[in-house]
Amino acid sequence: MVQPAAVAHGGAGAGPERQPNIEAAVAKAAEILSSGGSAVEAAVESCVILEDDPVFNAGTGSVFRTDGSVLLDASIQTSDGKMGFVIAMENTPNPIRVAAELLDEGINGLTGGGARNWADERGFDRGPVEGRPPHDEVSDTVGVVTRDRTGAIACATSTGGCSNRPPGRVGDVPLPGCGFWVQEGIGVGATGIGEAITRALLSFRVADRAIGGDGLEESMRWALEETVEEGAEVGIIALGSEGPGIGLSNRPNMPWATWCADE
Ligand code: GLY
Repeated sequence: MVQPAAVAHGGAGAGPERQPNIEAAVAKAAEILSSGGSAVEAAVESCVILEDDPVFNAGTGSVFRTDGSVLLDASIQTSDGKMGFVIAMENTPNPIRVAAELLDEGINGLTGGGARNWADERGFDRGPVEGRPPHDEVSDTVGVVTRDRTGAIACATSTGGCSNRPPGRVGDVPLPGCGFWVQEGIGVGATGIGEAITRALLSFRVADRAIGGDGLEESMRWALEETVEEGAEVGIIALGSEGPGIGLSNRPNMPWATWCADE
């Protein structure tokens, strides 16, 4: 049996005062994984806790776009090669649940009104998402990576998008290899300035380097130092095939937490 584990973050820049909120999300994942639940279930339910917590820029606490709208992105990927992502969803308090439904569909991603119609047809919660005005210290994105007893890994991410972005802008969270990447033996999630993360193809490059033998933490450090342009605040969480997860940021303000079952 593989040791189950989870790692989560509350966004680059969210600050240490969000640490208890992150620990609550990791505790949810731990509860599910300890009782034999799957990596997907643990990642989704843990992510829902973060989407429902108004202090995070995801779900309920998402920051307004420049026109005052609240548009939500979310993604999930598994180590057995499935993925689902949604882009710019309105009136959807938990977009990660819609993304997760796509894991077993013939399509990977949905956007805008089409995503919402698809969710309506399947009975996903529809309701206003309050959101909040962006301000300097508002961070961005939540993410969870989990590993279950079978060794399966899943990564779930969710965001209202970086502050001061227009409607229609697409960030890293719903883009494979950018805000998330999972393959056998590794899962990676990113947070921070989505444009910089996307240009670096950040999550894929961390995974590729670590699988190539450079080690998880070393690969994360390399990616932050060598692939992310200077000045862009970015953080990463990652989980390999054994042991606890790791969080690393190029600024001191990314709350993150990990849990790993005893041997
Ligand atoms: N990292 C989230 C975004 O740029 O939208």
